[in-house]
Amino acid sequence: MIIRISEAKNHVGQEATVQGWMYNKRGSGKIWFLQLRDGSGFMQAVVASGEGNEAVMQTAEKMTLESSLKVTGTITQHPKQADVFEMQVKSIEPVQICTEEYPIGKKEHGPDFLLDNRHLWLRSNRQWAIQRVRNTIINATYEYFNQNGFIKIDAPILTPNACEGTTELFDVEYFDEGKAYLSQSGQLYIEAAIMSHGRVFDFGPVFRAEKSKTRRHLTEFWMMDAEMAFVEHEGNLAIQEGLVSFIVEKVLERNMNEMKLLERNTEPLTKVKAPFIRKTHAEVVQELRAMGSDIKDNDDLGADDETMLTKKYDKPIFVEKYPTEVKAFYMKRDPNDPTHVLNADLLAPEGYGEIIGGSQREDDYATLMKRILDHKLNPAVFDWYLDLRKYGSVPHSGFGYGLERLVAWICGLDHVRETIPFPRMISRLKP
Ligand code: 4AD
Ligand code: MG
Repeated sequence: MIIRISEAKNHVGQEATVQGWMYNKRGSGKIWFLQLRDGSGFMQAVVASGEGNEAVMQTAEKMTLESSLKVTGTITQHPKQADVFEMQVKSIEPVQICTEEYPIGKKEHGPDFLLDNRHLWLRSNRQWAIQRVRNTIINATYEYFNQNGFIKIDAPILTPNACEGTTELFDVEYFDEGKAYLSQSGQLYIEAAIMSHGRVFDFGPVFRAEKSKTRRHLTEFWMMDAEMAFVEHEGNLAIQEGLVSFIVEKVLERNMNEMKLLERNTEPLTKVKAPFIRKTHAEVVQELRAMGSDIKDNDDLGADDETMLTKKYDKPIFVEKYPTEVKAFYMKRDPNDPTHVLNADLLAPEGYGEIIGGSQREDDYATLMKRILDHKLNPAVFDWYLDLRKYGSVPHSGFGYGLERLVAWICGLDHVRETIPFPRMISRLKP
């Protein structure tokens, strides 16, 4: 019977076959301990010498690191650890024995070497754990939206206009149409879809030709945008709190094993429950200055500001009502104070910083047109977006999260480059 390692607990005392890879081996001529991995988990397979066992001992000896194989034997419980299972091996069928030494050895490797070998590095147990947590976050996002009346709408990647800053656009030649741009966010398109569906979200790769070389920036990353008709600023924040708490709860429910592998202290994550901390941009500026930052009244928060501020807290923090001039053209201004917008950035605690950007959207045609002109954008490419304010415009809001930022925070990683299978950064396009 072929089983996956994750099912071993159901087969104690039975004979079973595991198919996978040997990531490590210890032992000698008398006994071999093969460390196996099959994608679902890890297991030690014990090959002991004895009468009639000569052939299997010889095969065990021949197996090199990262060779692929099928191993058959009896599943047993670890003598000391109740939740650990082993195999007492009867036979080994090599699938492919590596004849070249596996490049990622036991010694320490630098990040550049590991990133050059990303196609192999993905197999390491930490990288395995990170992708499993990423998968939970993706699924929890779909679950939350499905349970809350949203439908998924796929936004295009090739677009004629910018969504966020025009300085960060990747362009491509597009037949006779001139330049097309790789999407920075599906937001503008899903705003169109709410007039059909009410509540929608998208989830896909987005592109930013950002010159920033920081631990938080990639040039290609995955964004989830959500957009809701008849939801204003307050309602927007409540949905974000609901989603982020749900995601963290699901990771704690499903991935404690991975968290242990990553040595992530999950105590702070247990506090990620609504209501989150809320502060205005103006309050945060004061707080940051008191901590030594030179941030000005109308400055966006710098990377160091975010780190410094969020290290103080163990719950996510909404920073709301930024100065109008530092935010995007589509954000609705606060009717009580048009120098500020009805937006919020959600900052993750423990020094992580921004994970979500969102706002109520400008829904008045004339005001939006003026904002497009003020931002020196070409209204002709936004004619369709302006149309949405002509035909049944409604108050509406939305937000977008960066998947890699969420994974980095929840897994407790230093850099987003480990959170995506194949990171794209200013000077990295390979593998
Ligand atoms: O704050 P941003 O730029 O907001 C938008 O694009 C809005 N259109 C979203 C919306 O309202 N629907 O980006 C959203 C999130 C950020 O909060 C951050 O988590 C992530 O995307 N992000 C990046 N992640 C990795 N690398 C980059 N270069 C990122 N830029 C933004
Ligand atoms: Mg932002």
